Amino acid sequence: MEWLTELLHARHDRAGFSCGKPVLDNYFHRQANQDVRRRLSACFVWVNAESGLVKGYYTLSNSGVEQHFIPDSFRKKLPPSYTSLPTTLLGRLAVDTRFQGTRAGQLLLVDALRRSYEASKSIASYAAVVDPLDPDAARFYAKFGFITLPDSGKMFLPMNTISQLFR
Ligand SMILES: CC(C)(COP(=O)(O)OP(=O)(O)OC[C@H]1O[C@@H](n2cnc3c(N)ncnc32)[C@H](O)[C@@H]1OP(=O)(O)O)[C@@H](O)C(=O)NCCC(=O)NCCS
Repeated sequence: MEWLTELLHARHDRAGFSCGKPVLDNYFHRQANQDVRRRLSACFVWVNAESGLVKGYYTLSNSGVEQHFIPDSFRKKLPPSYTSLPTTLLGRLAVDTRFQGTRAGQLLLVDALRRSYEASKSIASYAAVVDPLDPDAARFYAKFGFITLPDSGKMFLPMNTISQLFR
């Protein structure tokens, strides 16, 4: 399977992108490039090959989750010495309104999970973590098996679960 996305570069039409959520649009228009230069996140962009339109983007970075946030059923299998668990943060994910509802979000999410999984083979990551913007976004992630991290507002999907998608 080919990757859907490529790393953000200057030729991408960032200004023409709109997912309908100002926070995610403004980030892509104004901040994504800087964050990449500062190595705070990697930004992957899905471009329509024919029109050159940006269909969507997501960001990935290393992160950590305190073990006490993890539900007991998962925690009991973890050594307590790992007070902070290594995770991969899928910080933002957005699809342009012109492509929403066409499975674009689902495909983009699978692309992000595959990248996270591939990277975790070299640098271990216990789970992919998302920080949903609002209840709507949380419902989207829940649909794909993300589990709420009580008291943090975040959601996670264990890398062992993700690995089963790509066997
Ligand atoms: C959330 C988003 C990425 C979904 O992308 P999309 O292309 O519209 O969704 P898809 O067509 O891939 O939908 C796949 C499935 O998820 C469901 N879904 C999509 N958005 C959903 C939502 N907000 N809540 C619940 N389910 C949702 C669809 O109904 C579909 O389910 P089905 O398999 O039962 O038919 C997109 O709407 C978006 O960019 N929204 C604005 C930005 C945003 O909120 N990002 C989220 C995280 S920060």
